[in-house]
Amino acid sequence: MNPNLDALLPYPFERLTRLTANAPPPKGRSLIRMSIGEPRHDPPPALVRHLQESLSDLGRYPTARGEAELRNAISDWATRRFSLKSGTLNPDTQILPVSGTREGLFAFAQTIIDSRQAPVVAMPNPFYQIYEGAAILAGAQPVFLNTFSNTGYIPELDAIPKDIWKRCQLLYLCSPGNPTGTVLQLSFYENVLELADRYDFVVAADECYSELYCDEARPPLGILDAAVRLGRDRFERIVVFHSLSKRSSVPGLRSGFVAGDPRLIEAFHRYRTYHGCALPIPVQKASIWAWRDETHVASNRALYRQKFHAAEVILKPVLPLEIPPAGFYLWPTVPENEEQFARKLHAEEGVLTLPGIYLSRSTPQGDPGGNRVRISLVPDLAETSEALTRIRSFVERHY
Ligand SMILES: Cc1ncc(COP(=O)(O)O)c(C=O)c1O
Repeated sequence: MNPNLDALLPYPFERLTRLTANAPPPKGRSLIRMSIGEPRHDPPPALVRHLQESLSDLGRYPTARGEAELRNAISDWATRRFSLKSGTLNPDTQILPVSGTREGLFAFAQTIIDSRQAPVVAMPNPFYQIYEGAAILAGAQPVFLNTFSNTGYIPELDAIPKDIWKRCQLLYLCSPGNPTGTVLQLSFYENVLELADRYDFVVAADECYSELYCDEARPPLGILDAAVRLGRDRFERIVVFHSLSKRSSVPGLRSGFVAGDPRLIEAFHRYRTYHGCALPIPVQKASIWAWRDETHVASNRALYRQKFHAAEVILKPVLPLEIPPAGFYLWPTVPENEEQFARKLHAEEGVLTLPGIYLSRSTPQGDPGGNRVRISLVPDLAETSEALTRIRSFVERHY
């Protein structure tokens, strides 16, 4: 058996199931799940139609490279979205489809890491759990960059000693962040890319929340536009991952892409040829529609904005709450131990939230998930408002 399997920690939702096993929700009350980041808005009908209309394509094997039309649609989207000059992102050499960013983020580490060199994979803390699992299974040591509120939830690059950076082969970034919603800015990317050059590592930017932002006039900066502004329009050492799961509310479609440095994309393609995660052609056809349409994405954003507004009105008066610029999570500090808070809230109000420490790791500087819970604003507005009202009465009753 692969010994690295033993180093994997139980997944957050496994821990949550254990935590709440003996604390059932009150009888006669619906359970409202705000623990998992699974979008629950209706999928766009046109996307479903494209999927249905192309089912006859199931008779063909898809390729790892994907259909040219899909890569063209992705290139056009990224060019528009990140204000790139036409031709900056070559659809044949700089883009590959992935079966959702989860799959792509995991597999990418297996492509990049040279396990003979005592490798390190750096990542924010708290973080999307796949980064750590991918690092461990690739034979690397995960190293955590804390994101505390007093530094604006920006990963603390300076806290990592030189000898660790020297061993770093891959850095995962997440912007907008899960769970903080923080958007990384140009000066941060400048520092990161300077470190990447100095210590010779690759940056994998996870931007799966990039299209869910609060201010229509200010879409989040991405690593592609940051790189161009920093004079790196060949995207050396950089790849970015995007997804339709959150943008188009289709987490079950399993469709996203990776783009960037052609040298890395070619190596990743080689890996994927054997890995065997090609997107079914009907999925690709539905995805072509989704990358070309912005109307459904704007409607999605409007729904999340309404839910953040509800959180501000209902919950903020009783719980310190920062409304993030993007994403769909609340990440409040809670008045007692995060596990006890989540367990009691589940038992008394039937609302499921995720203890912050399930998404973070303890470090000598502390645990950025301590005394926090993650609340996913994924149910519809009525159910979200009901959950927020229940959380409010729970807080008022106890604290
Ligand atoms: C930060 C982050 N990255 C990646 C993913 C994976 O999304 P998908 O595989 O559906 O694209 C998620 C899902 O919740 C996430 O929160």
